[in-house]
Formats: sequence, structure tokens, C-alpha cells
Amino acid sequence: MKRIAVFASGNGSNFQVIAEQFDVEFVFSDRRTAYVLERAKQLGVAAFTFELKEFANKQAYEESLIALLEEHRIDLVVLAGYMKIVGQTLLASYEGKIINIHPAYLPEFPGAHGIEDAFCAGVSESGVTIHWVDSGVDTGEVIRQVRVPRFPDDSLDQFAERIHQAEYQLYPEVLAELGVERKRYD
Ligand code: GRF
Repeated sequence: MKRIAVFASGNGSNFQVIAEQFDVEFVFSDRRTAYVLERAKQLGVAAFTFELKEFANKQAYEESLIALLEEHRIDLVVLAGYMKIVGQTLLASYEGKIINIHPAYLPEFPGAHGIEDAFCAGVSESGVTIHWVDSGVDTGEVIRQVRVPRFPDDSLDQFAERIHQAEYQLYPEVLAELGVERKRYD
């Protein structure tokens, strides 16, 4: 059985969707006040949090992450709104075992504002991408992507909501495809 950990920095709605369908060994947040930690408590999922600024440098921070991942024998790291670039230290140990979700159709609109950037560019469609993580920003090999329409009278909120609904559909599908077993309720 593949053991997964989810990394998230903020709201954690993707984490929640995943945790409702799969056993998550733990969630990590690099922000101590992130709402994802509240969701973890409500869902009964183990949670860890520490911040980069509490360490001498990114290497030391990522070494602590590796210790957590090893202790929990994690096979796949699922980034879901983790707002940091994965550094060399973590990649050296886990490259090929880290996936990310991006709220646009890569290589269109990489970076931290994929939804707003697509909206402001006036596209008629954008999308959602799930990809392997490498040392670039949203550059790793694509696993799956779907198109999501943007309608002429969409507000940014309406468009963002459509993107998020597509994310909630796609991430569980990809996890299942990668061999993560769904929870059984028997
Ligand atoms: C998602 O749109 C994800 O694609 C992006 O950050 C957002 C996280 O939302 N990387 P949430 O924290 O899962 O609610």
C-alpha cells in the first residue's frame, strides 16, 4: 500500500477532499496558522507544522521534512497549495515521489497566481494540471491535465470556483491511478 503525506500552506480544501477518500499519514504545513491544520484536526489526520524561518537555512528545514517523511515511511508526497519551491535537499531524496497540483493548464500560466493570471489574460479556457515536481517552478512532467472553460460573464470568483471543482475531481483520480488505495468503508 502506498503511504501518502500532503503538504499545504493555507486553506487546505484539496487536502480535505483527498483525506476524505484516502488514508493520509500526515499533513504538513509550513505555516503555523494555516486553516489546513484545523481541517486536519476535524478529520482526525496527524498534522505537523514548522516554518522555514525557524531554521538556519532551507537545507536544515528540508532535512526536518525528510526526517518526518522517513519516520512515516512515506512513498508519495502530495503537494496541495504548498507555497514553497521544493529545494535540492528534499529533491535529492524524494525526486520522482513528489507531485503537485497547479490551477492552470501548464505550460500556460505557471507561478503562484495561475487562476488570476489566466482570468486577466482573458482566455476562454484554462485548466488544471497535476505534475511531477522537479527543480523548476511548475515545470515537471505532466501526469494529467484537464481543460476548464472560462465564460464571458464569469467573475473571478466564479471562474476560480470552477477551477477548484476540477481540482477536487482530478487529484483523487490521479492518486488512484498512481496506486494509492481508496479508503474502504466496510
Ligand atoms: C489550489 O488552487 C492549488 O492548485 C494551488 O493552490 C490552491 C490550494 O487551495 N496550488 P487549497 O489550499 O487546497 O484550498
